[in-house]
Formats: sequence, structure tokens, C-alpha cells
Amino acid sequence: MVTETPATRPANPRFSSGPCAKPPVFSLDKLSDAALGRSHRAAVGKAKLKDAIESTREVLGIPADYKIGIVPASDTGAVEMAMWSMLGARGVTMLAWESFGSGWVSDVAKQLKLDATIMEADYGQLPDLSAVNFADDVVFTWNGTTSGVRVPNGDWIADDREGLTICDATSAAFAMDLPWDKLDVTTFSWQKVLGGEAAHGMIVLSPRAVERLENYTPAWPLPKIFRMTKGGKLIEGIFEGATINTPSMLAVEDYLVALDWARSVGGLKGLMARADANAKVIFDFCDTHDWIANLADDDATRSNTSVCLKFTDDRIKDGAAFAKAVAKRLETEGVALDVGAYRDAPAGLRIWCGGTVETSDVEALMPWLDWAFNAEIEAQTEAA
Ligand SMILES: Cc1ncc(COP(=O)(O)O)c(C=O)c1O
Repeated sequence: MVTETPATRPANPRFSSGPCAKPPVFSLDKLSDAALGRSHRAAVGKAKLKDAIESTREVLGIPADYKIGIVPASDTGAVEMAMWSMLGARGVTMLAWESFGSGWVSDVAKQLKLDATIMEADYGQLPDLSAVNFADDVVFTWNGTTSGVRVPNGDWIADDREGLTICDATSAAFAMDLPWDKLDVTTFSWQKVLGGEAAHGMIVLSPRAVERLENYTPAWPLPKIFRMTKGGKLIEGIFEGATINTPSMLAVEDYLVALDWARSVGGLKGLMARADANAKVIFDFCDTHDWIANLADDDATRSNTSVCLKFTDDRIKDGAAFAKAVAKRLETEGVALDVGAYRDAPAGLRIWCGGTVETSDVEALMPWLDWAFNAEIEAQTEAA
């Protein structure tokens, strides 16, 4: 007997963890005011870049004395430029609990060849945050996008730290409360929580991070796209919209549209509430179905953006094949696109719950999860 398909479908099946769903109000004609074919250094281009910076400050509540820059190569570019420009001045502690954090560990150990203290945890867990030494510079990911595990808050970060904190917040910014006083360098990309376009990253610097940049020269060479200082002084222009190299003015316009939408739903508070409501639908589903569970071991660390799920039913023979088949059924039905677990993560599903996703769509997806699971169990039994 093939389980019957549910009656309702999500209006928007886009649950990818990046690029993420565009804001619900998005349409291409919203970009008609883009400064296309114009120099990004002309007044119109510069004004839009400055608007992107100041609107980011306003929506995220970033303090006035923090610098915000638009940089090349998305979040990866922003994290790399921070690490290559600032690390090496003192000890380094690297925290990692999933694929992206592990990537930063590998860069610091193998490329920069720094003798870092590495604190790692398996998928589903966090390293022991109470054991972090803040005499070191500390590099970590706020929300591990591929395990769906986030730090619960910033209470573990020392107020009187000697080192800098460098935080990859790409799947956290605009969905989680980031305590700016605890963060010296924060990075994220446009393609994530606000559903912007890829290619550009944001770097947010505290006054202490600026001080490091102006007083420390790393032992290794820095390519032009990583350089934030000239002659021992911060290049202020980068933080006022005079980007290091040429940005896409179409992507800039798209980010401005996303920021406008963010304001229209109540700014950061509204965005966080939307993500929380979306994630809760899935948390509740897991609580009432014994064959599926959150990958995060501790409820306090469950992501409200990249919700990662594992199948826990004893009847499943090949976990990876099963999870893939469920994701494929959902995709074939057109009810959930791109929800397979990340390639390096444990088998399962990952459903994006950031604010651009509508709660009604997550609700509509849940019966389909039930359907796809049961259909696959049945298919597996028949094949046996
Ligand atoms: C935590 C984290 N860091 C870095 C990246 C890389 O982002 P980008 O491709 O925008 O550089 C991602 C993308 O998914 C991510 O989730």
C-alpha cells in the first residue's frame, strides 16, 4: 500500500541552506533601480554601497564605533581576510564542530602553519566552551550550518579577553542575537539568511580588531583583496563603500531590497521570530514522531536556521541511501528542494528555517516528511 500524498503543498518549496530562499516579496522587477552600467565609484554607486553598510548596521544593531565592510568572495573571503590579516600576533584557539569550522582549522594549521589549540566536537555537539582560553585569539562559527548546532549565546566569551574573537556568523546573522561587545570580527554573506545573492561578504570589526590591524603586520604576504590597511592605517574607504575591487551593483541592489523587506517584518526581532517559529514547527514534529530527531544533542544548541535531522528508525538498513531517497522523493514531488544533509555531514535532512521562509510552508512540508519517510520504508521492505 502506498501511503497517500498529503493534500497541501508548500507554496514555496525552497528550503536550501544557501543560497537561501529570496524574501517572499521578491521579484526581479524590484531590482530595476540598480545602478547597472555605472561605475561603483560614481556618486550613485557609492551611495548604494554606503546604504548597504548603514542599513546593515541599523537592522543588526551594530554599534556606531564598529566598522562594516563589503568584501570580495562572500563569507569565505571575509573569514580568510580576517584570519590572514590578524592571526599570528598571539596564540590561537580554533573551535570546530562541523564542516565549515573544520575548514577554518585546516587553513590555520596547514596554510598559515600556526600552532593553534584545536578544540573540536562531533556533529551534534559543541566543544567545551567553558575551557576556551581568551588570552588567545579565538576563531569559531556561531551556527554550524552543516550540523545545525549553534552556540546558545555569548555568555562563554570573556568580557576582559586579551585575544580577539573572530566569528563566522554567516548562517546566524539576521536570525540570532549576536552580542556585538563579545565579537571583534564578525563575518557573513548576503546569500544566507536574507536570501541575497552570492559573491559579496561582510566583515564587521570592533575597535580592538582595528587596533590589531593597525599595529600588527603578519609574517606572510597578503594579496590585495585581503588588505585592509595601508601604511599601518585602516583603509577607511573600504568601510564607507569604496570597495577593494568591483562589486556587482545588481547584487548590491538585491541586498538593499532584502534589507528593506527585513525592516518591513520588524527588523532583527521580526527576523528572529520568523526563524524561531519556522524551526519550532520542525522541533514539534520531531517531538511527536519517534523515527526522526534533531542532530543537535542539546536542545539549547539547536539551530533556528539550518535545522539538521537524522532518521532514528531501526528498520532503516542503509542510512545514507535512505536519507538520500527521502530527499529525492520530496524534490520529485516539488515540495522541498535541496534538503539533503551536507555532503560531509551525517546522513539525514537539512531544512532551512531562516526568516525568508514562510512558517505556513514549513507547516505544509511536515505531512510530506511523514509521507516520504513511510513511502521509503515501504519501498525498502518491498526491495528486501
Ligand atoms: C558557516 C559557514 N561558513 C562559511 C560558508 C561559506 O559561505 P560562502 O559560500 O558565502 O563564502 C558557509 C556557507 O554555507 C557557512 O554556512
